Amino acid sequence: MIQPKIKWRRYNTPQGICINEKCENVIKKYLIPNYINQVQLIFSSPPFPLNRAKKYGNLVGEEYKNWLCDVGRSLLPLLSINGSIVIEIGNAWNPGEPTFSTLPMETLLEFKNRCGLHLCQEFIYYNPARLPGPIQWVNKERVRVKDSFTRLWWMSKTPNPYASNKDVLEEYSKQMHKLFESGKYNSGKRPSEHNISNTAFSKNNGGAIPSNVIIAANTDSNNQYLKKCKEKGIDIHPARMPMAIPEFFIKMLTREAEIVLDCFAGSNTTGACAERLNRNWISIEADKEFYIGSKYRFD
Ligand SMILES: C[S@@+](CC[C@H](N)C(=O)[O-])C[C@H]1O[C@@H](n2cnc3c(N)ncnc32)[C@H](O)[C@@H]1O
Repeated sequence: MIQPKIKWRRYNTPQGICINEKCENVIKKYLIPNYINQVQLIFSSPPFPLNRAKKYGNLVGEEYKNWLCDVGRSLLPLLSINGSIVIEIGNAWNPGEPTFSTLPMETLLEFKNRCGLHLCQEFIYYNPARLPGPIQWVNKERVRVKDSFTRLWWMSKTPNPYASNKDVLEEYSKQMHKLFESGKYNSGKRPSEHNISNTAFSKNNGGAIPSNVIIAANTDSNNQYLKKCKEKGIDIHPARMPMAIPEFFIKMLTREAEIVLDCFAGSNTTGACAERLNRNWISIEADKEFYIGSKYRFD
């Protein structure tokens, strides 16, 4: 990747660069001068609009919405014409009562509208291993159930960004394999108006088309990143996402050697995944400790 002229703390790998700085500065002083129209996928999980401060701090309410929309607008010139932006925003609760905050949803909607983007599809990342919470309402008073998903919005400048679901096919189920063998299918009209022919499911297309609910658990307690952070006494990122999430979008929305950008890199799951998939990548993380930890993904 092109090296920034400014002496920000950074590391390079064969495919990418990670910079320790606020993304607002990096976008203005490094990305805009060098990467106009060249980024194929912006994949980011910005700090969530929580009602209490997390380690990396966060804005709340209108301030949060305005800040994120401003960052979004500053990113638009970088995105190639058929490129995609995927933003994950976690759920939040209103302070002091068992009610769900609409801020994450409002933020996604405003982000899309203020940036003039199309919503290609909404995705849910479901984590079945998520611990029950918020503790007060779920574990103590037992008046709510555990909150175990986050939303991802796939957006783009055009209604038809580059995408191929053939690159994210899933293993067929056992039943499907049986169906291929028997060649028998209960054909005919369905209440949904689909008219299923008797050969509709007889062809093996190499895998099943996935749904927009991605199931992934963040339970890998033994990986190199965690081991090395513990060994070196570096804080483990509290909001890491499982590799399966960026992997899905990188595979479906980019081809080899194209550029993937994450402006809120955290432990740099996105960069590590892009590296593995032979994509070029640029990651930006403001927090020094998280930035240092993220290097261990590449050792
Ligand atoms: C939800 S976390 C991202 C987690 C990441 N996807 C992972 O798997 O590790 C959001 C990150 O954004 C960082 N951040 C917050 N404000 C930032 C800014 N202005 N520029 C760059 N990074 C920022 C935080 O320090 C935090 O690590």
